[in-house]
Amino acid sequence: MLRIDSIDAWQAYRKNVDGDIGLVPTMGALHAGHLSLVNAAKSSNEHVVVSIFVNPTQFNQANDFEKYPNTLDEDLSQLAQSGVDAVFMPTFELMYPDNYIYQLTEKDLSTQFCGAHRPGHFDGVLTVVMKLLNLVQPNQAFFGEKDFQQLALIKGMVKAFFINTQIVSCPIVREADGLAMSSRNLRLSAIERKVAPQLYATLNSDSTLKEKTEHLNTIGFDVDYLAVMGDRLLVAATLGEIRLIDNVPYDMPGDKA
Ligand code: PAJ
Repeated sequence: MLRIDSIDAWQAYRKNVDGDIGLVPTMGALHAGHLSLVNAAKSSNEHVVVSIFVNPTQFNQANDFEKYPNTLDEDLSQLAQSGVDAVFMPTFELMYPDNYIYQLTEKDLSTQFCGAHRPGHFDGVLTVVMKLLNLVQPNQAFFGEKDFQQLALIKGMVKAFFINTQIVSCPIVREADGLAMSSRNLRLSAIERKVAPQLYATLNSDSTLKEKTEHLNTIGFDVDYLAVMGDRLLVAATLGEIRLIDNVPYDMPGDKA
């Protein structure tokens, strides 16, 4: 597995790639959710490239960025074992030669749900994903339904800007107790980790949106929002210091709204 940490080295490599490339963009601290994207990429592409870049522009809280888990050695060995061809690991200076003077903003969906609670977050996500797609020039790029709003915004961006990459969405991978896998789960205390699966359980419980929100707030979560987006029920809630998100399919029954 090649480790590429400069733009020049990447472009030299890209020139010589023959066949389809599947890209899996990540911020590292990899878990089985990320690896499911890698496997999906492998099944339909000759080459799989994973980017690891903890993108500072999408963190609206300095503390969250500084404490973002870093498990690089394990990440690299997991990716090598998964048969990844190349890992692209640029620095901030290389990814942002403009120092983030140029930004990509979506003006509708990105202001709602997570966007309403994390100012600037989706500008950072869309800008870095656009940079990655332009650099890597993949045939397909793989994103998880775990970040459902992010996925919808990236699909919209690719359509709006005629980007020649197919966006492939992958289902949420969960722990045995239902908690959606997330790099941030590593930062939950033992007690918080026991409460955390209630987020998913509550989304699935037979209750109204108001009752779900109240229940989560009662058992220790601080709910940012619990709301329907299209055919999904989305939630974001903080437990201790850690903000968790999740979503489930939802067919708006008249009596539950
Ligand atoms: P990160 O949180 O590292 O996630 C990388 C990809 O893995 C995303 O597409 C995310 O939806 C997917 N993923 C995370 N947990 C998952 C799970 N439990 N099941 C399935 N897929 C899962 O999302 C980002 O990084 C960044 O915003 C990024 C797109 C890389 C831009 O910086």
